[in-house]
Amino acid sequence: MVWLAGDLGAGKTTLSAGIGQGWGTPDPLTSPSFVIIHQHERPRDKTRLYHIDAYRLPHPEAADSLGLDDILEAEHVVLIEWAERISTWLPPHYLKVSMTMHPDDERYRQLIFEATGQRYQELLEALRKAIFGV
Ligand SMILES: Nc1ncnc2c1ncn2[C@@H]1O[C@H](COP(=O)(O)OP(=O)(O)OP(=O)(O)O)[C@@H](O)[C@H]1O
Ligand SMILES: [Mg+2]
Repeated sequence: MVWLAGDLGAGKTTLSAGIGQGWGTPDPLTSPSFVIIHQHERPRDKTRLYHIDAYRLPHPEAADSLGLDDILEAEHVVLIEWAERISTWLPPHYLKVSMTMHPDDERYRQLIFEATGQRYQELLEALRKAIFGV
């Protein structure tokens, strides 16, 4: 599960679209707008990616109706914008990406990555090596 945090317009959907593209779904990931949850499939292996935007949930308890437990249990790829709004429904382990506009130039974004649990810590380590080479 990837927790995408950041204010309105920070770039959560844009990053989700890039993740979706890299993962291999042919359909574009757009802002879920009034649809809270979008499901995408990867043709090559039929695995699924769920893109959730918790911003418009009327109240945290409404997350109950999303079937999150089943989705998370089945180990699909799950990207959640505004996951802090449904924090009590989230699993203990995740990769959190906190996005902010660059203080000096709003054309750029600053990303802070945090991982909990071994799997996500290893993932983050691999990402760090891929980006920085160390
Ligand atoms: N890394 C980036 N660099 C420059 N511009 C970006 C970047 N990421 C997003 N943007 C621009 O910022 C705007 C808002 O992006 P986006 O919709 O992804 O934000 P969001 O965090 O999903 O917002 P919301 O909270 O409304 O869902 C868009 O115009 C997008 O093109
Ligand atoms: Mg968005």
